[in-house]
Amino acid sequence: MKVIKVKNYEELSRTAATIIAGTILSKPDCILGLATGSSPVGTYDQLAAMYEEGILDFSHVKSVNLDEYVGLDGSNDQSYRYFMNKNLFEKVDIRMEATHVPSGAVKSDEEAEQYDAEIKAAGGIDLQLLGIGNNGHIGFNEPLTPFTSMTHIVKLTDSTREANKRFFASIDDVPTHAVTMGIHTVMQAKSIILMAFGEGKAEIIKKTVDGRPEIAVPASLLQLHDDVELYLDEAAASKLS
Ligand code: F6R
Repeated sequence: MKVIKVKNYEELSRTAATIIAGTILSKPDCILGLATGSSPVGTYDQLAAMYEEGILDFSHVKSVNLDEYVGLDGSNDQSYRYFMNKNLFEKVDIRMEATHVPSGAVKSDEEAEQYDAEIKAAGGIDLQLLGIGNNGHIGFNEPLTPFTSMTHIVKLTDSTREANKRFFASIDDVPTHAVTMGIHTVMQAKSIILMAFGEGKAEIIKKTVDGRPEIAVPASLLQLHDDVELYLDEAAASKLS
């Protein structure tokens, strides 16, 4: 696990966008694993700017997102499909049919696992972008999710619903369940970058990097992957030894 410290959110976004751009340039038909939330918004802005400048071509790129709220469809402005369309897909020339977000209409884990089969059939994820939850979740793999988990339905913890209520009118509107790539799905990616900014992430980043890998801190399991880079701003890195 390689830790790269940057100054602030802007530099974090520029650096992550540069890595993603490098992947697209070296493999124009790459499969990108993408995340939602506040961490990658600046990265997506930078990628859209590179597209506008003619540096990047997304026309052969495929994407697979980490997760979606159960019960929300893509027309709901709180859904992750909607987020991706607005923050990236509609700003670049990626083909919409080449973009994949788990379906919020999923009814069972067996159905959810089809997502892994599709990723595998497409050749696997070349580069997976991750954020990290305050409790160490990656995707919506909450603490104690089995290491072998594939894409599955999860009950969101109170702390995750609380953290995400900022995007909803009230806590009651935050869905109780989500569908997420599993830890196994994430670990199958050829390379992974995790980004975190702000003081609020400092404690969990310390556990992720300095602690032993354990399912109680899902992000710490990334230590077991051989190509993971963590991009942290000064505040998120402030508790590292
Ligand atoms: C989003 C996702 C989540 C977020 C995490 C951090 O697709 O999978 O794991 O990355 O909750 O969210 P932010 O970036 O809003 O702090």
